[in-house]
Amino acid sequence: MADDKVEPSAGLPRNKIGPKIAEFFLVLMDIIKVVLLGGPVMFRTVLNILRPRKLKNVSGQLALITGGANGLGREMALLLADHGCNIVIVDIDLKSAEKTCDDLRKKRVSAHAYQVDVSSFKDVETLAAKINGDIGPVDILINNAGLIHFTFLQNSSVDEVNKLIDVNVKSYIWVTKIFLSEMMERKQGHIVAISSICGIYPHPWAVMYTTTKHAVNGFMGALREQLRLQGYGRQIRTTCVSPYYISTRKDVTDFLQEPRFELLTTEYSARVIVDGILRNEPTVAVPPFLDLGIRLMQIFPVKIQQLVRDIVVKEHDLHSVKA
Ligand SMILES: NC(=O)c1ccc[n+]([C@@H]2O[C@H](COP(=O)([O-])OP(=O)(O)OC[C@H]3O[C@@H](n4cnc5c(N)ncnc54)[C@H](O)[C@@H]3O)[C@@H](O)[C@H]2O)c1
Repeated sequence: MADDKVEPSAGLPRNKIGPKIAEFFLVLMDIIKVVLLGGPVMFRTVLNILRPRKLKNVSGQLALITGGANGLGREMALLLADHGCNIVIVDIDLKSAEKTCDDLRKKRVSAHAYQVDVSSFKDVETLAAKINGDIGPVDILINNAGLIHFTFLQNSSVDEVNKLIDVNVKSYIWVTKIFLSEMMERKQGHIVAISSICGIYPHPWAVMYTTTKHAVNGFMGALREQLRLQGYGRQIRTTCVSPYYISTRKDVTDFLQEPRFELLTTEYSARVIVDGILRNEPTVAVPPFLDLGIRLMQIFPVKIQQLVRDIVVKEHDLHSVKA
């Protein structure tokens, strides 16, 4: 074991100015290369904002939506069906999943409901085999099932924390891991994750929820780059979605009584997300540019960020925080 130890002097030679200068110029040349190649990319990005890219054709494709029985998942399913996409709803709430499928079939697409707890690896594995056999391969996978948990850390029980991590993080990993192999074989697919504004902006009154959504953003960022590294970058797309609060659930609206900024409607949020997916956007914020504002703020010292929290976001004014 002693042989495995790394000498403290390993890495760049210390106190030798020559190699350091050479290293500096090599990195500088790489940076210049990035700027030269990045110029046209930035130009195209701005152009895409002014004149958005065309939506891809998903007619006849199969989209699987976890947690698609209710709320945002249901609304995304209805919009994808408007584009001719066939849908599989996977949810623990079978009754609502079947109701959503009835509504989807009215749009002349095929729709199937499965009752599965997506936080169970084994159950998702069995589900994947069933879907592949009964319906066919999944083209668009939307990890959406999630638990919302707005409270201070001390109020979260061990069971609640475990459940939150199981559903909000592990289910995204399991479902992706299981369906990705088939996508790699077919060299085609799209993996979507519904994260949250909490995935980019830590919320003091939702510490554990923030933690799970940061994990989702990390997972999706790393997965996107893994696929690019392996040569699947153009074949298997990824989209990580960060929405602000949506009026899907009573506990959300009850908690956020008189929020600083108005809650989004489910219809509007689903429309922005589905448009982003159909444009192969790697990240989607709802409303658009929300993430840009947050990321810009994060370059400032923490004390300035706290001034923004206190004066602009007014977190301390939330009804449930005061209560
Ligand atoms: N509502 C918001 O303000 C908001 C904001 C940003 C992000 N989000 C995210 O959007 C996603 C959808 O949220 P929503 O507001 O539509 O919630 P919702 O409660 O209306 O819908 C979630 C669905 O997931 C299902 N589900 C829960 N656990 C499951 C499990 N283990 N296996 C299978 N299905 C399961 C539920 O039955 C339900 O149908 C979540 O990931 C949430 O974190 C919500």
